[in-house]
Amino acid sequence: MTLNNMRRVFFFIAVVAMMATSAFAQQPTATTERGKLAPTPPMGWMTWNMFKGDISEQLIKETADAMVESGLRDAGYKYVFIDDLWQGGRDNRNNIIPDPKKFPNGIKALADYVHSKGLKLGIYSDAAQLTCGGCTASYGFEEQDARTFASWGVDYLKYDYCNAPEDSATARLRYKTMADALSKSGRDIVLGICEWGQRNGEEWCEHVGGQLWRTSSDVRDMWKDIVNQGGVGILDIINVTAPLSKQVRHGQWPDMDMLVVGLNGKGGPSSDLGGVGCTYTEYQTQMSMWCMMSSVLALSNDLRHLTPEDKRILLNKEIIAIDQDPLGKAAERVVNEAGHQVFVRPLANGSHAVAILNSGDKAQRLSVSFKQLGLTGKYTVRDVWQHRDIASGATKWGGKVQAHETKVFVLR
Ligand code: GLA
Repeated sequence: MTLNNMRRVFFFIAVVAMMATSAFAQQPTATTERGKLAPTPPMGWMTWNMFKGDISEQLIKETADAMVESGLRDAGYKYVFIDDLWQGGRDNRNNIIPDPKKFPNGIKALADYVHSKGLKLGIYSDAAQLTCGGCTASYGFEEQDARTFASWGVDYLKYDYCNAPEDSATARLRYKTMADALSKSGRDIVLGICEWGQRNGEEWCEHVGGQLWRTSSDVRDMWKDIVNQGGVGILDIINVTAPLSKQVRHGQWPDMDMLVVGLNGKGGPSSDLGGVGCTYTEYQTQMSMWCMMSSVLALSNDLRHLTPEDKRILLNKEIIAIDQDPLGKAAERVVNEAGHQVFVRPLANGSHAVAILNSGDKAQRLSVSFKQLGLTGKYTVRDVWQHRDIASGATKWGGKVQAHETKVFVLR
């Protein structure tokens, strides 16, 4: 090679190296610290409990439209989550792809549609080779999948733990690997840890880069588990989550699983293991207690066919305000008797939310002195389900509570 040719080759190599370096330098990185990705509990809708694998681009678009038209979006429900069974395997470059029959135009086009409505898109994967539903999952492909999700415009990843080793150390490692991959992906993507509380995700979620932690196994459309086959109902989830309230803080939220409000026993997976449906009193209790506990609020009924009762519960701005309160504290359970429970939650404006839950199967008269809750003043009592002040200068409350009903008051 002549000296001139050598110079040309050297120059060519230098230019390629510079281009590669600058391309690398320009690769976008997510801008928000992981701890700040979910300043309040995320709110949205999830496909699983009603539709299982019967999901499609059309369903997601119609649901997004319904979220806008019903006022749910403006009430704070922003995420549309595609749960399991969306996947179509990997292409010849190992990129994860959607099922082409369900999502013929791909997820990016769908995300664009969802974003154009002022909503966000959530998707699902699993920290193993296969998801709970037996589809392609992300273990070993974390960075590649995170880049794919980012390129589609995904805003939230629910990351499940089926088919993965049982121990907590492996779970932490696998969740951290995905959180790191999301951070490198160039997009702010919330990470939901879904190990069902079996490895105490609440203790390490923040450390590994997650924003929320599932507290229980899968919710069924029922009040409580009486068939003892592994499904959990509304009261069961309240009971497993109540002791975790001290773990709740800004950016670290409990995920008490999906709201079953409005499923009325018609959901797919939510209807087995005793999931025969609930009364609207019970659905109202679910909404009340999920909000008292600062849970993620993920609707799971068919939003295209909302009843006035569904809307009354799901669009109650006063109860949603408790869930989203900027102080970010979950309610403490201060009374835990066999037939009733009482919870107190401090709010940012100095007032307190109080929930009185009749967990028994018959209506009962209950009375609560505010002093016993640590509240020593005289209070104006607002009933957030009746939307009116029911007392002023009060130091206690007493009244009838229906079976499985929850009264929620704000004391100021
Ligand atoms: C697990 C999760 C559910 C749902 C299914 C999907 O059971 O806990 O919420 O995502 O997997 O297969």
